[in-house]
Amino acid sequence: MPAKDLETIVSLAKRRGFVFPAAELYGGFANTYDYGPLGVELKRNIREAWWRSMVRERDDVVGLDAALITHPRVWVASGHVATFHDPLADCKKCRMRWRVDHIAEGQYGEPKRNAAGELLCPNDGGELTEPRMFNLMFKTQVGTIADDENIAYLPPETAQGIFINFENVVASMRRKLPFGIAQSRVSFRNEITPGKFIFRTLEFEQMEMEYFCFPPADRANPEEYLALHREWIDYRLAWYRDTLGIDASRLRIRYHDKEELSHYSAGTADIEYDFPWGWGELEGIAARTDFDLTAHGNESGKPITYFDEDSKQHIVPWVIEPAAGLTRTLAVCMLEAYSEEPDEKGEDRVVLKFKPNIAPIKVAVLPLSKNEALRPAARRVYELIRPVYMTQYDETQSIGRRYRRQDEIGTPLCVTVDFQTVGENGVAGDDAVTVRDRDSQEQIRVPIANLLNVLRDRLPGC
Ligand code: GAP
Repeated sequence: MPAKDLETIVSLAKRRGFVFPAAELYGGFANTYDYGPLGVELKRNIREAWWRSMVRERDDVVGLDAALITHPRVWVASGHVATFHDPLADCKKCRMRWRVDHIAEGQYGEPKRNAAGELLCPNDGGELTEPRMFNLMFKTQVGTIADDENIAYLPPETAQGIFINFENVVASMRRKLPFGIAQSRVSFRNEITPGKFIFRTLEFEQMEMEYFCFPPADRANPEEYLALHREWIDYRLAWYRDTLGIDASRLRIRYHDKEELSHYSAGTADIEYDFPWGWGELEGIAARTDFDLTAHGNESGKPITYFDEDSKQHIVPWVIEPAAGLTRTLAVCMLEAYSEEPDEKGEDRVVLKFKPNIAPIKVAVLPLSKNEALRPAARRVYELIRPVYMTQYDETQSIGRRYRRQDEIGTPLCVTVDFQTVGENGVAGDDAVTVRDRDSQEQIRVPIANLLNVLRDRLPGC
């Protein structure tokens, strides 16, 4: 059962240290969020799962971490300076600013229109100003003189850093086609989007890969290229389902129709999730042809090519691009993991049923009480587990409340040290602990000597 509404997750995210609205101290900062101690772990784990599937477990993909502050001509070549625009309009009554395309798509409910059929403000039905095209890139300046010569842009995507390093990677890593270059890092877009938590923010993290392949034999009918595109769509969909544990019924593939396709694209499919407000994009998988390498070759005056040993020709590779949103995926993992169900005593409990590989804390070590006699053994167990798994030690409040707290942050296993472990009233301890499973609430007794083996079995992929 996923969360019924976004508010439930927004509140839990703040209460339990996953995601905080940014700069609340100063009244907040629109569309900007801070990731708390558990959010940063969850984000690292999702990125790590992606990196494992896209780089570590594949022979044909390598990683990259290109500079954020990028030469301005990169964004001229990519088309972002000329075309990366949104149509914006202001309400003449309430002054709220809107993306006209989002109003028309019904993202704020059934669009309101006046008698002439013109769109009206979704907030109060006020008249809107004429839409103006607004570039989404954040400008900055390099050096001390603020003139047009010194403009630089913060990257609105990670992809261009990959294209401009294509030849460096081929030369330094002796790569042969087909192969990919993967990169995950922050991107920036000056977005106007009221609400929806971390779905659309000013700065966000992406996980992108550019897969370079031979140009198709027939450019007008690139069958083998489109087959490769479909292979990547299947591969990425399986990752959300099998690695992150997202229910298949809330995932779908949506192919862009002709009008929606970018001029250079031979096909784009989005992987979408069924958010509480409807279907929304998680990842775009674009068949970008040779557009980007050609564009950078033209803009720089230095053609970017690959030398094919077999045909003894320089060619411009074609590209498939699976481009995912890390922070958006984090929101989906929280929505998806959320569950309300009875605990051992039949009382309500909230559980985040993360798959163990993405859970921020893998194991909690909980002495039964604050009693001094339990502490040395509990600390010993903690020190045993800590080097292997992200572990939390907690001895405050009743054991039942501590279980609830760990359930609510999605910790798969709790290890309890009690008087049976350490012995009491002259009876020797058994040097064993209780391991409690988050989902089944089953408890088993495990000798400390065998504890790491049991944890390893119960924490696959961690
Ligand atoms: N290089 C291609 C590219 O950037 P995109 O569809 O614009 O494609 C890829 O972005 C993914 O990045 C999206 O599917 C989404 O998950 C995420 N994303 C894009 N803009 C975002 C924003 N403002 N806030 C959060 N995530 C965003």
